[in-house]
This record gives sequence, C-alpha cells and structure tokens, in this order.
Amino acid sequence: MPRGTGRAKRVAPRTPRIDPDVLRTFGSKLRAWYRRHARDLPWRRTRDPYRILVSELMLQQTQVSRVIDFYHRFLDRFPSVEALAKARESQVVAQWEGLGYYARARNLHKVSRAVVREGFPSEADQLRRLPGIGPYTAGAVATFAFERREPLVDTNVARLLTRVFAPKLHPKRARDQKAIWAIAEATLPRTGKAAWTHNQALMELGALICTARVKHCGKCPVRGSCKSRAEG
Ligand code: ADE
Repeated sequence: MPRGTGRAKRVAPRTPRIDPDVLRTFGSKLRAWYRRHARDLPWRRTRDPYRILVSELMLQQTQVSRVIDFYHRFLDRFPSVEALAKARESQVVAQWEGLGYYARARNLHKVSRAVVREGFPSEADQLRRLPGIGPYTAGAVATFAFERREPLVDTNVARLLTRVFAPKLHPKRARDQKAIWAIAEATLPRTGKAAWTHNQALMELGALICTARVKHCGKCPVRGSCKSRAEG
C-alpha cells in the first residue's frame, strides 16, 4: 500500500504517554510499600540464578504457598545447576511430581545442561534463547538474579499496570502486550538494584492488593496514580 493513504498501520499506537511525575510517584510509593509489606519468600533471599530460575519456573503455573515446599525439596535433591545437569531427565521429572506441567521440568533440565556448557547468561535477550524461557522468565532471571534493569510482565503485573495507567488496554489481549511491556519499562527506576525491588513489588502488589477477584483499593499504595480508580 502506498504511503500517505492513511490506512497503513501506525507503530505501537496503543502505548499511552505517562507523565514523568506520575511515574516517579508511582515507583517510589510502590517500593516503599514493598519494603514494609512484602512476604519473606525464600527466592527473595538469594541472587543465585539457578535457584531463581527454579522458583520462577515453579511459580509459572503454581501458587506461592504450594511452591515453597516443592522449591526446598527440589533444591535439597539438586542443590546446584551441575547436580541437575548430571541427573537423568526421568529423575528430574520424578522430583517435579505433584507440580504438574512437566514440560517445565524437562526444559529446566535442558537449560541446566546448556548453562553448564556455556555459563549462565545474565542478559534478558540471551536468557530468552534457552529452552522454555519466555519473555517473562527471561526478565525475571535478569532482574532477580543479576539485578539488571529489565521490565517484567506476567498476568498479575499486566492487570495492575493496565488498571493504573491504561484502562483501555486489556491485560490478556495479544495486540496490547507490546504497549503493556512499554509501560512496565517506563515505570522502571534508574538502577538495577532499585529495579529488583520495583519488579518484586509489582508482582507483590498484583498478588496481594490489585488481585483479579478483589481490588483492595483502600490499602493500595498507588491509588493516587490509578486511572481506573479515578474513572470509577
Ligand atoms: N511469581 C513469580 N515470581 C514471583 C516472585 N519473585 N515472588 C512472588 N511471586 C512470584
């Protein structure tokens, strides 16, 4: 189609512009809330990329309360990425028993062998090349293990960010994902260390306050920045 007919697709037309002051306030309130209210979860006490990868894969389809026990038992059995790489796939899958979605265990095993051969990548775009590692998990390992300044969006974070900044976007709609990731990127603080807290805080607020079923707006630290709330 020739240019200038007005019918060509525009690039990312759905990404809203957000006032920098609103972004700063949102970030500082969010992180201050996290420091006071976050749950003490085992994978938040480590920066070991192997442990963080195990936790993130377990958490993909399983609730935090169920994951904790499995996480400790899995790491007792396979305490290092080398130990996991040496195991047979059937042993890894057996240890995953009860968590379901066994492709996660098989991919984790493949990743362990790649990592033992080539080292643990620390950048999100390199992590994405590993088997079974999508954009969310790549962002999570880059930020939670390596304190990289990377955005991260899962369904909880997408719901929170669309409610606060862009009620016209749909957290699960494919064509809105690019805009939602752009919002996540725009909210990031300057340093990787602060990004660690920021990303954990987005996950935590989505899990505890801005949930799918109930919105606990009265307890929400970012209600002052929330468009959905302002629009009723
Ligand atoms: N779900 C996925 N990653 C998580 C994390 N780091 N903390 C809590 N829930 C999570």
